[in-house]
Amino acid sequence: MTRPRIAVTRTGLPGSGVQRLSQVADMKIWPDNIGPNAEDLVPFLSDVDALLAMSQDQITGELLDTAPALIAIGQASAGYDNLDLAALSARNIQASNCPGVLMDTTADFAWTLILAASRRIVEADAAVRTGDWTSVKFDYLLGQDVGQRTLGIVGYGQIGKAVARRGVGFGMRILHADPFAPSDEVSTQVTLDELFTAADVVSLHTVLNEETAHLINADTLKQMKRSAVLVNASRGQVVDEGALFDALTNGEIFAAGLDVFELEPAGPSNPLTKLNNVVLAPHIASASLATRGAMVDIAAENLIHALAGSTMPNSLTPDVAPRQLEQDQQ
Ligand code: DGY
Repeated sequence: MTRPRIAVTRTGLPGSGVQRLSQVADMKIWPDNIGPNAEDLVPFLSDVDALLAMSQDQITGELLDTAPALIAIGQASAGYDNLDLAALSARNIQASNCPGVLMDTTADFAWTLILAASRRIVEADAAVRTGDWTSVKFDYLLGQDVGQRTLGIVGYGQIGKAVARRGVGFGMRILHADPFAPSDEVSTQVTLDELFTAADVVSLHTVLNEETAHLINADTLKQMKRSAVLVNASRGQVVDEGALFDALTNGEIFAAGLDVFELEPAGPSNPLTKLNNVVLAPHIASASLATRGAMVDIAAENLIHALAGSTMPNSLTPDVAPRQLEQDQQ
């Protein structure tokens, strides 16, 4: 009896998920923690039954055609814009993500960016390190308050709601724009236009799709207050970075905090790195040891269900009927 074969696109993943999978399957683990590029993914997946993937792994229909044995993908992320769900469904391949474990860690980090951008932490830290702080100046590095102000959340899912709950602690009025989420006891549902004009802090927690790509652009940035702070911990492509650069340079908004970029990994060639009024982070909003471990564990749990011929608990492909492995593998 052959054991199923599972590919994992990173080595050294936290949590116990990979170890658990290795009890029921033969593991094919990519030998570094950066992962395969699109070209390397082809031979890597050519003979596997299942894949534990990360949100950086681009899973296209073309790639799936080169992986004939694949029956399931368990992804260790909440976002899944890297997965071509239609192509997966067309090929009867189940896929899952890992909601439910990263909202608090991600919301904590969104708040880290909100406070850091509002209170100019990048400039403040540099002032001390570089010797710019030479005397006590009453009007030195004046920032924006968040307490008692208005927080506008775009995308009111698990993460958006966790950000909102923290806003209550700061005494904020909370608004959200999300066609699928009515008002609740924490936040009032408004239109995007209402949110952009009313919010002192705009925090993005939406999925990336055709409607949300470049949702933040020259026009929507102009709708915001000149004192507004924009934070993005969703996907980089939700923001038109060129327009954001202009808005930050021209004082159309006060500051921004970004954990995600249109092109990742971002580095010194990204013009935003030249600006003082933006706080930048390398896509680490969910990166606590415990949370990243829990994300891998959920992906593994979903794969175990798929390999047993069941529907994945966090299925993104509800129209795909679970498949049995070939007879000689059971
Ligand atoms: C997520 O879970 O979507 C995070 O962005 C990590 O990929």
